Amino acid sequence: MRVLVVGSGGREHALVWAISASPLVDRLFCAPGNAGIAEEAECVAIAADNIRALVEFCGREQIDFVVVGPEIPLVAGLVDALEAEGIAAFGPTAAAAALEGSKAFTKDFCVRAQIPSAPYRRFRDPAAAKAYIATHGPPIVVKADGLAAGKGVTVATDLRAACRAVDEALVEARFGAAGQEIVVEDFLGGEEASFFALVDGETALPLATAQDYKRAGDADTGPNTGGMGALSPSPRLTPAIEGRVMERIILPAVTAMRDEGRRFRGVLYAGLMLTETGPKLLEFNARFGDPECQVLMMRLTSDLLPALIAAHDGVLKTVDLRWHPETALCVVMAARGYPSERRAASEIRGLEAAADDPQVKIFHAGTRRDGVKLVAEGGRVLGVTALDGDLARASARAYAAVDRIDWPEGFCRRDIGRLAVKD
Ligand code: AMP
Ligand code: GLY
Repeated sequence: MRVLVVGSGGREHALVWAISASPLVDRLFCAPGNAGIAEEAECVAIAADNIRALVEFCGREQIDFVVVGPEIPLVAGLVDALEAEGIAAFGPTAAAAALEGSKAFTKDFCVRAQIPSAPYRRFRDPAAAKAYIATHGPPIVVKADGLAAGKGVTVATDLRAACRAVDEALVEARFGAAGQEIVVEDFLGGEEASFFALVDGETALPLATAQDYKRAGDADTGPNTGGMGALSPSPRLTPAIEGRVMERIILPAVTAMRDEGRRFRGVLYAGLMLTETGPKLLEFNARFGDPECQVLMMRLTSDLLPALIAAHDGVLKTVDLRWHPETALCVVMAARGYPSERRAASEIRGLEAAADDPQVKIFHAGTRRDGVKLVAEGGRVLGVTALDGDLARASARAYAAVDRIDWPEGFCRRDIGRLAVKD
């Protein structure tokens, strides 16, 4: 088969790495990819959101199967455009990706499908939103409706902060069209967890459990990020909770999406709050998490590609995925200043020495080659991922590799795995 992976982050590097091991693959392409991906696939200089150029490339190169990593092309209809040309693609259509693309749609959907989630109201008018917030009182959560690169959610502990978030979205248009409507919802207390399932339109196959570390600083301080680390399995998601999430959240969503004519095929990712009254949905995503994908791929022993094809073909019932029983742990190295400032490109040295451990895989996100030099291009740059017997050993192994990387302009959290030890 000739396979194309779309995207350029650590998640896509992990997908490329897993797919490249499949005996089904003759040629593997990635658009646009990065310096790490270039070692296992042929990178094509087409941006992940350039739908026309991607469809054209697939026709020209006779691509048999496309795996779409990021949410932006999914919500923009890349899978619809490919399927219209007869090119099989893994990922939801635009109508199904609304589960990630519109929080307002998703909140109304949860009511229709009886999926447990925080009580909420939708607003376009700032005065009405503030009046509701004033009567409701803090803590309260304000969310931009559309895709806002992880910056659209404010958990407000006082009225001022909540009203500020309303103005940023509805008055100052800080999120553009994505913030023309907001969802204001009740604050939920508890521990967070992520849940991933492959979905074929009819049924769902849960993946191994994982959790990420969202804050930039140690001990969960500092700003929210896309994720500074991850581990799998997640000690928080016991088999009992997993069963409840499947029964109350994932399967009702799959069935209701089908019944509403928005059949969901791809990865359904539920962001959960584990509350005293059971797991509640914070958000759906229509893709693998990043860096959760890195730890999942590290633990997957089955061939990923036939499972993705089965999800596409609607025959997921025939698939059984196997996982290493060990723990996988990913430490993200980001450019200093992430997530708020973008710094100049800088050189990374020592990666070969760090990658020497066969139980470690270094997934690239923001890297490119400049001659023989490896250059960091800002944001999240590397995902140093280790597999070992338990959490403490996986963490020691990942940090030993991190410490061999010579990149003064980068930083990472030093406590990935630690909080989970006391879970
Ligand atoms: P979301 O993008 O909706 O998952 O929100 C991003 C982050 O905001 C989540 O990972 C939570 O930490 C927090 N959050 C979102 N909704 C709520 C809520 N209703 N109660 C408490 N925290 C929330
Ligand atoms: N790690 C969180 C996300 O992928 O959205």
